[in-house]
Amino acid sequence: MLSVNVAVLVSGGGTNLQALIDAQKRGELGRGEIKLVISNRKNAYALQRAENNGIETAYVKMRRGDSACEKELLELLQKKGIDMLVLAGYLAILGENIINAYRNRIINIHPSLIPSFCGMGYYGLKVHEAALEYGVKVTGATVHYVNEIADGGKIILQKAVDVREDDTPKTLQLRVMQEAEWKLLPQATKLVCERIYSERNAL
Ligand code: GRF
Repeated sequence: MLSVNVAVLVSGGGTNLQALIDAQKRGELGRGEIKLVISNRKNAYALQRAENNGIETAYVKMRRGDSACEKELLELLQKKGIDMLVLAGYLAILGENIINAYRNRIINIHPSLIPSFCGMGYYGLKVHEAALEYGVKVTGATVHYVNEIADGGKIILQKAVDVREDDTPKTLQLRVMQEAEWKLLPQATKLVCERIYSERNAL
């Protein structure tokens, strides 16, 4: 039976993309197959990771409210037969045409326990800075569906990570990745791919 074709959207270093690639190699993505990696930044190292693993890449500029960028991305996704999108450190906002076309088929990883430290302006180290400033003793990561509200879609999986007395934003960021993000994103991708696969076969 046909696989569920996954596109991973990235902007940066791509360690979450790497976790997905490694999981696929171990046979842990179930029906999912990473077909395409798309970046809104030409020099994102994530693109190199994809190429190193023989995965097709594309650069598509994305600006909020720019319907030409959105159209280009949507046409590419449809041309390549993409069934599901995984946002893995993608620092751009998707417009409503893409959200509507892929409703309940776009997921994102966020490095906190939503609804804490999320929404507009909470990305990268800022999330961990805010968690340390607030003084929470537990943080973590969340994988959720993407809708029109920033970090506001239905939660799929969460994993908690203890905050240590001597944590800095950087040490906390790394531990949240190692202990939560790199495990959670492949698991959630697999779950959503299984759902898409069974819905497709129920038609
Ligand atoms: C991760 O912390 C992810 O949760 C956030 O952006 C970061 C991306 O890191 N959305 P990488 O590019 O996967 O290394």
